[in-house]
Amino acid sequence: MERLQKVIAHAGVASRRKAEELILQGKVKVNGKVVKELGVKVSPSDKVEVNDIPIEKEEPVYFLFYKPRGVLSSVSDDKNRKVVTDFFPDIKQRIYPVGRLDYDTSGLLLLTNDGEFANLLMHPRNEIEKVYVAKTKGIPSKEKLKSLEKGIKLEDGVTAPAKTKLLSFDKRKQTAIIEITIHEGRNRQVRRMFEAIGHPVLKLKRERYGFLTLKGLKTGDIRELTPHEVKQLRALAQK
Ligand code: URA
Repeated sequence: MERLQKVIAHAGVASRRKAEELILQGKVKVNGKVVKELGVKVSPSDKVEVNDIPIEKEEPVYFLFYKPRGVLSSVSDDKNRKVVTDFFPDIKQRIYPVGRLDYDTSGLLLLTNDGEFANLLMHPRNEIEKVYVAKTKGIPSKEKLKSLEKGIKLEDGVTAPAKTKLLSFDKRKQTAIIEITIHEGRNRQVRRMFEAIGHPVLKLKRERYGFLTLKGLKTGDIRELTPHEVKQLRALAQK
């Protein structure tokens, strides 16, 4: 049994909030009867109609996408920029990204139509490890990297402990390649962390999300997650 608004949302008819409005407005019927209260639960055998049209349950789908730079983590854009769902022209489900990567950040991004799953993974309590590789302007000192590891003050508060590894540097060009592992998912977090130590990010890529990596994929590639991976991600988030 599932809540009516959730079933409507999963069918791709409307967001959960909009589904609640539709219920309150008397536009939803269960087995031919108008249901106006929230909290009613239905089973797969119940017939649900919205505006007298039976809903169809959308199959949940889960994708791993190697997002290129110069693509918005969004399903549409009023300025006509490329968005992540442009890479999924043959998918009929209404998928959306789980969190976001900046327009100029490349790397691993999950997309799904399973709102419950997306919320679970994005909840700040569920500290899923994310590994990024950043190219920075200048070569940060050990002390500066240590300050990122301890937590650094940003305008929205001190960051949680992170891990960093200096992978390489170019003395002549004055750039460094640094791997950084964080658990939080604040807006532009990695870029702001490096800005805070005076070494702005020139290039950023997300290499890993929990146990998922970009192994075998090229930029712009997509693969479906296996049912086992979906289960593992759920377990990781619920830990
Ligand atoms: N941190 C950033 O600064 N940008 C991203 O896209 C992801 C994490």
